[in-house]
Amino acid sequence: MIDKKIQSIKQRFGIIGNSELLNRAIEVAIQVAPTDMSVLISGESGSGKESFSKIIHSLSSRKHGQFIAINCGAIPEGTIDSELFGHEKGSFTGANDSRKGYFEVTDGGTIFLDEISEMPLSTQARLLRVLENGEFIKVGSSKPQKTNVRIIAATNLDLIRSVESKKFREDLYYRLNTVPIMVPSLRKRGEDINLLFRKFSSDFSDNHNIKPIRLEEEASEIIKNYRFPGNIRELKNLVEQISILEINRKITSETLIKYLPKQENTLPTLSNIKDQKKDYNERDILYKVLFDVKNDVTELKKLINKILTNKKINIDVSEEQKKLLDNYSVKDKNAKMSLNTKVQNAKNNQFQEVTEVFNNDSLSLEKNEKNFIIRALKKNHNKRKYAAKDLGISERTLYRKIKQYNLEKF
Ligand SMILES: Nc1ncnc2c1ncn2[C@@H]1O[C@H](COP(=O)(O)OP(=O)(O)OP(=O)(O)O)[C@@H](O)[C@H]1O
Ligand SMILES: [Mg+2]
Repeated sequence: MIDKKIQSIKQRFGIIGNSELLNRAIEVAIQVAPTDMSVLISGESGSGKESFSKIIHSLSSRKHGQFIAINCGAIPEGTIDSELFGHEKGSFTGANDSRKGYFEVTDGGTIFLDEISEMPLSTQARLLRVLENGEFIKVGSSKPQKTNVRIIAATNLDLIRSVESKKFREDLYYRLNTVPIMVPSLRKRGEDINLLFRKFSSDFSDNHNIKPIRLEEEASEIIKNYRFPGNIRELKNLVEQISILEINRKITSETLIKYLPKQENTLPTLSNIKDQKKDYNERDILYKVLFDVKNDVTELKKLINKILTNKKINIDVSEEQKKLLDNYSVKDKNAKMSLNTKVQNAKNNQFQEVTEVFNNDSLSLEKNEKNFIIRALKKNHNKRKYAAKDLGISERTLYRKIKQYNLEKF
């Protein structure tokens, strides 16, 4: 019975897959939907959390009420309280009128708070009040108002870690986490990877009028064992990329491997980067290169100091310093060779742009930061959310920096 229901939900919401973990997550969503309880959906980025919030709303008694999805990471800290809870006229500079917030207009409906870990602590306190007694206070008011809103929250972080680091209120965490739903990462979904591959390949072929690609047996084994840090979103991009670039529609393992980024264990990573962050291979490499540069600069400083203080020609320099001196000698045409080699060794020529960044000779953090932001925005077709992920900063920080460097036009 429940299995039938799970299958019908999958059909209705376009969810592909049959793995046990996926089915269990859908089952919990079906069970919790008709209650009015808060739900916390956890899962890695790109694993498909959003569909779960829609399932819960659509199967609840609020299905005819409003459903609003809010990305907590995308609203600037200064305006989030007013956006969510509204404000009174004159409550801050620019508040020329009073305004209703989402919690007021969604009365009787569901609010999906995505990236809840990004919610500022002061807003968390307001949210807790709503959850505890259905009350909120507009910014600039002292009068509590009632609202009847169901909260579904989502996070791609381990929220308990945010509680430990005091970025997330413990009481709110337990309040939200009464019914947790764990959306499994793609790597734990076995055969689903191939099912999704076929689905994306056939969608792409329908939309673009080209023959669908197909994986040869060995290739389909390889893809099943790839770790997909970007989950379903990454798989979809991969299928689209191969569909466009390969002429032969039968994809061999050799062809597939060309498109898979090297697994992180073959690349330099920093030991203190947490497991989940190992996915940011490109960023790891940049860090590594930056650290190497920093060490080299320190060594060079020591060396110059020695040259300046020692008038004798016979300077006592270590082998390491000699190498550095060779590499950085102004007369040497290949002055930047050592840096380039490092970058190239770190990863193949995909990272040519990285070298460019360092070749511009600027050690200004600001300038390089701006360059990185531009590159991340370009790479992600101006999708700030994904650019922020690539950069390893929150979406809110990215918004602030875009403003600071005047990059809005990108
Ligand atoms: N089971 C599924 N079948 C087919 N497509 C899916 C499935 N789950 C998710 N998708 C697609 O995968 C992409 C990523 O899903 P979604 O945006 O829900 O991820 P997310 O978990 O919310 O990620 P993030 O934390 O980055 O917001 C979307 O394009 C979505 O349509
Ligand atoms: Mg999402």
